[in-house]
Amino acid sequence: PAGRGGGLGRGDGEMKVLVSDRLHEAGLALLRREAEVDYRPGLHGEEFRRALSGADALIIRSGTRVTAEDLAFARRLRVIGRAGVGVNNVDLEAATEAGVLVVNVPDANTISAAEHTLALMLALARNIPAADADLRRGGWDRRAFTGVELRGKILGIIGLGRIGGTVARLAASFGMKVLAHDPYVSSHPTAELVELDRLLKEADFVTVHCPLNAQTRGLLGRREVALMKRGSYLINVARGGIVDEAALAESLRAGHLAGVAADVFSTEPPPPDHPLLRAPRTVLTPHLGASTEEALRRNAVVVAEQVLAVL
Ligand code: MLT
Repeated sequence: PAGRGGGLGRGDGEMKVLVSDRLHEAGLALLRREAEVDYRPGLHGEEFRRALSGADALIIRSGTRVTAEDLAFARRLRVIGRAGVGVNNVDLEAATEAGVLVVNVPDANTISAAEHTLALMLALARNIPAADADLRRGGWDRRAFTGVELRGKILGIIGLGRIGGTVARLAASFGMKVLAHDPYVSSHPTAELVELDRLLKEADFVTVHCPLNAQTRGLLGRREVALMKRGSYLINVARGGIVDEAALAESLRAGHLAGVAADVFSTEPPPPDHPLLRAPRTVLTPHLGASTEEALRRNAVVVAEQVLAVL
């Protein structure tokens, strides 16, 4: 090390790491030991590009979108660290062309995202947010908020990777029967692998756990939502854009789906006229799947270690 304070030197000063989304202090502390950290969560537009032009590394979560146009400004950039799983907010092709390595943290969020899925499933099944809001308005309506049990119900998991697999185990412990659809998995100890149409027709609860990419964008469109069992529920803690949100809202209004829980939206935050904000029987959270103290710390530490290793 030759830089200031024993950091990663380039001869012309320390390596500069731009962090443009909120990052746990444990990761920032690791970075500061080795590099100069420009910590500006929420940075975007011209200011983001200006900061990027002087950075050797960029660390982001899901809030920063990195486009080919942004990368044209990144003259020194060598690595983008994604403190989380999804890399759909980075133009990977443009990064590769520019010789910029993109690293993610595939397993730090698994438990948090799986537990959030179960929390949303239970919130839907027992009408928790609606009952809470009604009670605060002076209500005491035990009949209107009668729920359903998870035990004995069929859960359909779309995408049986780390998070989907953990949801399968947790759901089995509730006594649910688990079906799953995943083109890359042929057998699983807890879930029966089936075609997507069968899963949609048979499941009482459907939960989405695949990445957003060219194959999965619009995977659940109007046709697929209509195939879902009458009175069933859908949960999306994966990515907006995989499910047609307008089709979900219409189905809820028509009384076909019993409830929808979404932690992710095709546009984040969802605009005021977003169809799910106006639909009945929804439980909506602001992309909280990975937002636990434990996951945020793990993500920040792992991404910091990876970025420093590349530098
Ligand atoms: C992820 O991709 O890791 C999660 O969606 C969490 C996040 O984006 O912050």
